[in-house]
Amino acid sequence: MRKTLVAGNWKMNMVADEALALAKGVVQSAGEFGQTEALVCPPYIWLSQVNETIKKSTVKLGAQDLFWEDKGAFTGEISAAMIKSAGCDYVIVGHSERRQFFGETDRTVNKRLNKAVDSGLIAIVCLGENFQQRESGLTSSIISSQFENAFLNFDQFDKVVVAYEPIWAIGTGKTASPEQAQEVHQQLRGLLEQKTDKYDTIRILYGGSVKPGNAAELISKPDIDGFLVGGASLKAADFVGIIKSSL
Ligand code: PGA
Repeated sequence: MRKTLVAGNWKMNMVADEALALAKGVVQSAGEFGQTEALVCPPYIWLSQVNETIKKSTVKLGAQDLFWEDKGAFTGEISAAMIKSAGCDYVIVGHSERRQFFGETDRTVNKRLNKAVDSGLIAIVCLGENFQQRESGLTSSIISSQFENAFLNFDQFDKVVVAYEPIWAIGTGKTASPEQAQEVHQQLRGLLEQKTDKYDTIRILYGGSVKPGNAAELISKPDIDGFLVGGASLKAADFVGIIKSSL
């Protein structure tokens, strides 16, 4: 069976003491997470310090992005090796905010994905449609095309988590209904099946205004294997609440 994964993407939030307090708050409840895997993805600058706080617990560490080159004159960028050496097991790739504000494309998602898994990281590959695309009935074709482009010439699916994040539900308070989310997750499961016979072991997360109050209903769907949580991961009680609702 697939192990539920609940990942907190802190985005560009938390100064030093807040980051440590949040990490401590999550770790304090880690004994109650059962089989569910908890992951925190702080800003790069706090990775090492958060790692010190969580490393004796079952809580895992991830980065929010990476660059695909190994090293060199790339001012402001972070390599896979740096992320690994800071204690990360996971890295998020292709988040819609990277696509929207920082020029990320399907092609650069593919490059980051390859570098991440070649470096021994597990990549959480994000995809999802925007409001206009959903309203125009384009959801399924957008999902297919983002999926095919992200995973072009790729076969290391044992090192991948897929995250469906409808852009219209991110940070908006609107959540996809469990049925809407399941429909896309089922489509993604089918796309994975065309790539690998291990399709049934790959986790597909839902992201978009997940809260303690809607997590249980979403996780009850057969192809929803966990969550990528933004806003609600910034309060330990809410993040822990989502994990507990997913048990
Ligand atoms: P949200 O963000 O939970 O604040 O909607 C989700 C995400 O971007 O991962």
